[in-house]
Amino acid sequence: MSAYLRALRLVNFRNYVDATVLLAPGLNVVVGANAQGKTNLLEAISFAATGSTPRTPNDPEIILWGADFTRAEMRVSMNGDEERKIAVGYAPGQKKRLTIDGVPASSLAAYAAGGAGVRVVTFFPDDLRVVKGAPSDRREFLDSLLASLKPTYARAAAEYARAVQQRNQLLRRIRDGLSSEKTLSTWDRKVVDLGTEVLRGRTAAIGPLGSLFEDAVSALYGPEKAALGYGYSAPLDGYAEALREARGVDVERGTTSVGPHRDDFAVLFGGVSMTTYGSQGQQRLATLALKFAAREYLRGETGQDPILLFDDVMSELDEERRGYLTEYFLASTQAVISTTNLEYFDPEVIERTPIVRISGGSVL
Ligand SMILES: Nc1ncnc2c1ncn2[C@@H]1O[C@H](COP(=O)(O)OP(=O)(O)OP(=O)(O)O)[C@@H](O)[C@H]1O
Ligand SMILES: [Mg+2]
Repeated sequence: MSAYLRALRLVNFRNYVDATVLLAPGLNVVVGANAQGKTNLLEAISFAATGSTPRTPNDPEIILWGADFTRAEMRVSMNGDEERKIAVGYAPGQKKRLTIDGVPASSLAAYAAGGAGVRVVTFFPDDLRVVKGAPSDRREFLDSLLASLKPTYARAAAEYARAVQQRNQLLRRIRDGLSSEKTLSTWDRKVVDLGTEVLRGRTAAIGPLGSLFEDAVSALYGPEKAALGYGYSAPLDGYAEALREARGVDVERGTTSVGPHRDDFAVLFGGVSMTTYGSQGQQRLATLALKFAAREYLRGETGQDPILLFDDVMSELDEERRGYLTEYFLASTQAVISTTNLEYFDPEVIERTPIVRISGGSVL
């Protein structure tokens, strides 16, 4: 049996001063009018489970206006009757406090990669950018999925990003005649070592993720031949050479032109890029299919079903797809789904589903 959340307590998290929410296995529906705190609640669950928010890189934003710290705690039911308490405390200028049954986690990376005992797959309306947005949005999707599996991946990706930045600084110094080109070799080796680790992780994941994506698209959209295609700026086996060959151009531009920080992946329906040509509905379904694929991938890799946190996902779908999604959520270990309108769900489903009513940052 997979882990699920039993309760959440929030202090000074966005518009929640102090709130407690009880959750059940299977489907939970969070309902409220606009601007009451539905998205904030799903964000808070994700924050408590992973130690960071998928909505912003700027942590101070999540603290209730005027407050100087925030705290999110959860009680997690682990595989049967054992229970665990996880908590994340954050105050600007201080190190985040992540604890598991009161014991500090060894690192944020370890906490986020399953150390807390639960993993989540989130869908926020802004996630449409994974399909319609820039390559960096798609890389971020892949990187955060892999980081939720392995702390070593998260560390390699972070160190790689720093190494590239330092290489870029050096490139500009060389261009301006302040450093000699000889110093570049050391950085190149470091960049290639770390970049190779990132590329290996992504390469291993994209194949299985692509077939899971194809399955999800046919279930959601129809018998369209869907695929993901990773686009390498430098191939794994010729990476060091490609970086060496790019030196001249890189020095001239003061930036590193090849490596995993420049890669992208194509999201294809029938061979057509949904990033470039997808209709709004297709882009939405493709984003959902990516999230479903992520869930199956995590399940396959860990043997545990991640918790689904889907924000306002029903509103723009037709009735048939809403029905499909409802069944999908009902069959999951746990899904917390927000909506402004309970009528998006079958009345019989609502009757037997725990409903969390939100108003003005309070749980009614
Ligand atoms: N740090 C913060 N402190 C206090 N309030 C905040 C903070 N961040 C956001 N809010 C406010 O919280 C309120 C609820 O936001 P939230 O996004 O959760 O609404 P929602 O219920 O999802 O609404 P919608 O149906 O429109 O998506 C908003 O009015 C927002 O301005
Ligand atoms: Mg919202």
